[in-house]
Amino acid sequence: MDHLVSPSLLAADFGNLGKSIKLVNESKADWLHLDIMDGVFVPNISFGFPVMEYVRKLSEKPLDVHLMIIDPDRYITRFRDAGAAILTVQYEACTHLQRTVTEIRNLGMKAGVAVNPHTPVSLLKNTLPFIDMVLIMTVNPGFGGQKFILESYNKITELRDMIDRGAYNVLIEVDGGIDTGNAEALIRSGVNVLVAGNSVFGSEDPVLTIKRLKTLH
Ligand code: DX5
Ligand code: ZN
Repeated sequence: MDHLVSPSLLAADFGNLGKSIKLVNESKADWLHLDIMDGVFVPNISFGFPVMEYVRKLSEKPLDVHLMIIDPDRYITRFRDAGAAILTVQYEACTHLQRTVTEIRNLGMKAGVAVNPHTPVSLLKNTLPFIDMVLIMTVNPGFGGQKFILESYNKITELRDMIDRGAYNVLIEVDGGIDTGNAEALIRSGVNVLVAGNSVFGSEDPVLTIKRLKTLH
């Protein structure tokens, strides 16, 4: 399967969000990545439902929603109603993870689980049958523009092996410090979805950068 590209809106110009969304619409991006931060699970607050409703109206790409919030169960239905196509919860924020991901799927969304850099992917062994995607955080969540953690390659290789051995229908997404310099190596390691914030919206020509991320092999 060809890999997917999901630009992260967190790095866009919030004073001109409409322009950034239209730019993504016109690009080869597959999804639009939305980072929801609550100031508790991560030391930052991003945006919530009113902004997401607006994004949903303008975006022609499926919304890939990454929840960096505690107690996500409280809001699953609201994120579905706000237009999430893929809803990813953090492993570290879920006490009853199997229940949470099953609820996400029952509401008609794809279910993802994100793991922080310190969380081993082996902990997902019994969750793989119930999800559609694993998001390997390649930085500590909370902020855009951080440096990619190299140890992530070992986690990707290990997870790729777990998925292939079990023949699970689960995508591997990476998020944090992704650019045209490391994208190719990540795809070769078995990644299916690249999230990129600053490397896209901070570039001179975001549409071209998305194209470059998309056409790597
Ligand atoms: C970090 C977020 C990322 C962030 C990535 O907590 O989950 O999605 O927007 O930004 P870059 O690509 O700039 O590292
Ligand atoms: Zn994210």
